[in-house]
Amino acid sequence: MKSKQRFYCDHAATTPIDEIVLSEIARISRGRFANPSSTHQSGQAAKSELEKSRRKMAKFCNAPNANVIFTSGGTESDNLAILGLARGNRENGNHIIISNIEHPAVAESCKYLENDGFEISVLPVDKNGILPPESVKNAIRKNTILISVMAVNNELGTIQPIEEIAKIANGNGILFHTDAVQAFGKIPIDFEKIGFDALSISSHKIYGPKGVGALVLKKNVKIQPLVFGGKQENLIRTGTENLPGIVGFAKAAELMFAHFEFENARLKKIENKFVAKLSEIGAQRTVPTECAYPGIINLLFPGISAEILLQKLDLAGVEASGGSACSSGAIKVSPVVQALGIPDEIAQSAVRFSFGRATKSEDISEIAEIVTEQAIIL
Ligand SMILES: Cc1ncc(COP(=O)(O)O)c(C=O)c1O
Repeated sequence: MKSKQRFYCDHAATTPIDEIVLSEIARISRGRFANPSSTHQSGQAAKSELEKSRRKMAKFCNAPNANVIFTSGGTESDNLAILGLARGNRENGNHIIISNIEHPAVAESCKYLENDGFEISVLPVDKNGILPPESVKNAIRKNTILISVMAVNNELGTIQPIEEIAKIANGNGILFHTDAVQAFGKIPIDFEKIGFDALSISSHKIYGPKGVGALVLKKNVKIQPLVFGGKQENLIRTGTENLPGIVGFAKAAELMFAHFEFENARLKKIENKFVAKLSEIGAQRTVPTECAYPGIINLLFPGISAEILLQKLDLAGVEASGGSACSSGAIKVSPVVQALGIPDEIAQSAVRFSFGRATKSEDISEIAEIVTEQAIIL
């Protein structure tokens, strides 16, 4: 019996690893197993691969003068940015500004800091899921040391005005951090031009291996490490580097940038077709199309429970998600969708479809058909 086809529509949760990246990981794991901190020839050959990857990552962020610190992923990069920058710059103040749709890796780090005497302003996004730069300007105090606003929201896909917000931060001598985990390789991120102090990125969202990320840091920014030990990563993140993962991450980034425009144009067509088809049964976009990255489509199905719809879709072969992946398994009304001012009875119907390389253009009618059928017979 032929097994039924499954459609993976959850690329914002994670992406399938690229075959070329896998080969690169195998090459490094076999041939460059030595510790990059070892002084012998094998160690130095491993070190050379590490530094090559670091230069590549700096190039893709246009951060030739920055410090690329490899970490275990987006969560650690965000934790290091928030806790490390706050603690490293405490002598200048204790106030931090974030939006109310930040990933928990940022939001929870800030909550933790509150117990340590820091003050956090959590600014609301507007009904389109965008943080108005004006509100950031108005929230600045004499003791503000850090502003952290994400580039692309993981649930809604909304693209934040980080360029304007960076200008405000830079103009007031305040550090600016962006969680670019969902943005890197998908929308242009120019470290130098935008004026970041810190930028978080993660490998598994761009067809690279899991458990690798980076924090790109402006040179000479004061930061306290979270882990202590040896001298790796400029003493900011010690521990033997995950070289196969890091080289895989750099290869994944290279492939992402090589197909950047083609893939975005393809996703735009997929988005248009999918949304048009589902609007026929009354599904509505949670945020306007022009505010979002085309690979992340959050839809409201008024009168339907997302929890039940997701189970039915899974049985029918379509894998999507509700809320953020980190809290899946216990789907409740998403605080990010609530942040748009949508009442709970409608917000609980929000489903995120996130498309990427595993989404074939020729399959989109069938995917939309399955979603239509499952939503209608609920
Ligand atoms: C916006 C955002 N930030 C941070 C993270 C955490 O990244 P990682 O899974 O690499 O720890 C995620 C992952 O879902 C994310 O979407």
